[in-house]
Amino acid sequence: MQKEPHRLAGVKKERGKSLSVKHLLGIKDITPADIELIFATADTFKSVINRPIKKVPSLRDVTIANIFFENSTRTRISFELAERRLSADVLNFSASASSVKKGETLIDTVNNILAMKVDMIVMRHSSPGACSFLSKHVNSIIVNAGDGTHEHPTQALLDAYSIREKYGSVRGKKIAIIGDIMHSRVALSNIFCLQKLGAEVMVCGPPTLLPKYIGQLGVKVEFDLMKALTWCDAANMLRIQMERQDIKYFPSLREYTMLYGLTRQRLDSLDKKITIMHPGPINRGVEITSDVADSEQSIILDQVENGVAIRMAVLYLLAAKN
Ligand code: CP
Repeated sequence: MQKEPHRLAGVKKERGKSLSVKHLLGIKDITPADIELIFATADTFKSVINRPIKKVPSLRDVTIANIFFENSTRTRISFELAERRLSADVLNFSASASSVKKGETLIDTVNNILAMKVDMIVMRHSSPGACSFLSKHVNSIIVNAGDGTHEHPTQALLDAYSIREKYGSVRGKKIAIIGDIMHSRVALSNIFCLQKLGAEVMVCGPPTLLPKYIGQLGVKVEFDLMKALTWCDAANMLRIQMERQDIKYFPSLREYTMLYGLTRQRLDSLDKKITIMHPGPINRGVEITSDVADSEQSIILDQVENGVAIRMAVLYLLAAKN
């Protein structure tokens, strides 16, 4: 029961420049040139959203459905704002208030949404691979807004874009990703994205929260927080994903904080000023203290701001390609 996709007739193509992919399913699938194109396009959109009139007509007559099967604040609002800034028509679908609760399948749900002349699907789902699965079974452009512990491509793009904004380039920068790597889609997408852009990547956390395969991805592995902080230019702090843990991976949150919490005292003991990042949501007082999260070294809210421009770029480029 597949319908032909609604034509994206009004979307203007940049001559000679387009993404190598039809969907954004993961950073693993895209090229460094794709990432540079997304960043260059985001530069343009960032200047647009800082103008008094923040809207452009780029996706007029394009309809986008945001279908979220998991909770979200930043990603859902950021995609919706990006879509509205591009003049797209926007539908928001929350699984908890839908007929999924009556047993409807994912494919049937999405095909019914597409039958109403929807052009693009932005999906968050708890199952790794759900977006890839959907892309093979429905006739639409799919954007992954986070699939379980697998990938969160737009988060990684906005993180790398924020590093580029801070330092001028990602190439050669040393980035430490610290915390619950095992359950983090942000970590995996960041590793792929930063490596494609020429950064050095380290992961740091308790051995039980670092997957056994992680060394095979070409990252440095460190169990000592102070050594990671001493090495890096920027530290991307991840929260402990309690909702994905069915067993205990460490004795207590208090012990985790004592060993891996980023405090002002730890930062001040370094002989340089590193940049502090966090994808959110923050668990203040666990992986990071409030004074560090809110300090002048933190670019956490810059990351959030950049998310809108990055998502505008991704949606625009995918629509233009298709
Ligand atoms: N960073 C991020 O994905 O946040 P949300 O879960 O609030 O979307």
